[in-house]
Formats: sequence, C-alpha cells, structure tokens
Amino acid sequence: MELTDDEVEALGTRGYFLRAAFLGEARARAVRDEALARVDAGGLRPAGIRRGADHARDTTVRGDLIDWVRPEPGTPLGALWDAFRELGEALSSGAYLGLGRFDLQLACYPGGGAHYARHRDAFPGQSNRRVTAIWYANAGWASAHGGVLRLYPEDTAPVDVEPSLDRLVVFLSEQVEHEVLPAFAPRLALTAWYYGRDAG
Ligand code: OGA
Ligand code: MN
Repeated sequence: MELTDDEVEALGTRGYFLRAAFLGEARARAVRDEALARVDAGGLRPAGIRRGADHARDTTVRGDLIDWVRPEPGTPLGALWDAFRELGEALSSGAYLGLGRFDLQLACYPGGGAHYARHRDAFPGQSNRRVTAIWYANAGWASAHGGVLRLYPEDTAPVDVEPSLDRLVVFLSEQVEHEVLPAFAPRLALTAWYYGRDAG
C-alpha cells in the first residue's frame, strides 16, 4: 500500500486525510458482517472515559460500546487488520512517522443520540498514540442518521465526515480534536491507534 502525494501533503499541512474506499466493496461488506455478528453476540461493553487518574462511564460524554479486536488470520477482520498494518508501514515510509504496533477497537454507537464529545486521542508527552485511523462499516448511511465525525483541524474550518461503508479517515492523534455528533442509527467503526516505534 502506498499513500498518494495528496494524502501525505494533507497529513502534513492539515493533520488528516480521507480515503473514500479502503478495502473495496466486497471485502468491506464481509468485514461489516463480521463486526455486526460480534455486536449481536453481545461482546461489546460501554466505553470508559479517562479523567485524570479516574476511569469513569459517562454517556453524556461518550455513548459507544467497544471491544478490542485481535482477529483470526483468514477472516474478514483479519484482512482489515492486514490493511491497517500496511497502512502503518506506508505512513512510516511515506510520511516519516516512525510508527510501530497498533491497537484495534470495534465501536458501536447504538443510536438514540449516542455521541462522543469533542476530544483528542492523545496529548503530547502523555501518550505514545501518534496516529488514529478510523474505518467505517455502515452500509446505507443517510444524513438523517447523524453520527458524523467532526474534525477540528488547527488552521481551517471544521470538517464533517459521514461514517459510510469503507471510508477511511487518518489523523494525527495529538493534534486533531474531533467529536462524534449524535447518532440516530447503529453506527459501527473500527479504529486503529498507532504507537511510536519506540513505545513499549
Ligand atoms: C474515538 C473516536 C470517532 C468515530 O473512539 O476516540 O473519536 O468517528 N471515534 O468513531
Ligand atoms: Mn477520538
């Protein structure tokens, strides 16, 4: 996998880039089915939020259910894992980000206005999370479903991203504030957080 010149440029100047299609329609639908099956099997738990040293649940801040994913090789989620690994290598070689391992999280906003208040995924000096890559698994997403990801790049107006099937958004975890606006239909996302190569 390679990054386009535009992607590298956008990451450097605005802190993020978007890709309309990451896996292709057939593979994307297979991943969606496997992710939905995990949700239906009841394996997800309400996400916590970190406030200083505390770990708390507060659906006024964050209303999603999550699970950490270590897919079996050969499964659709395994193919997504491989694509994220290749993306990390491309970010390291193409954008000089020096990334190492990543964590993969499945998140489901159940609808009913579930959202995630404006935040950053990492703070300089406090975390080794360097890059966030989010892949969306929502077929037939409509604007009435809400649930857009709103990015706040440092020097430009906010940017809204619809969480449509196979869309990818990549941003610098320490730099780009973002929020999930209230979702009125179940909303699935798989997020990879990449750590610096020297992280433990
Ligand atoms: C997160 C997050 C955004 C999204 O999980 O930290 O910001 O679009 N998710 O799901
Ligand atoms: Mn986030």
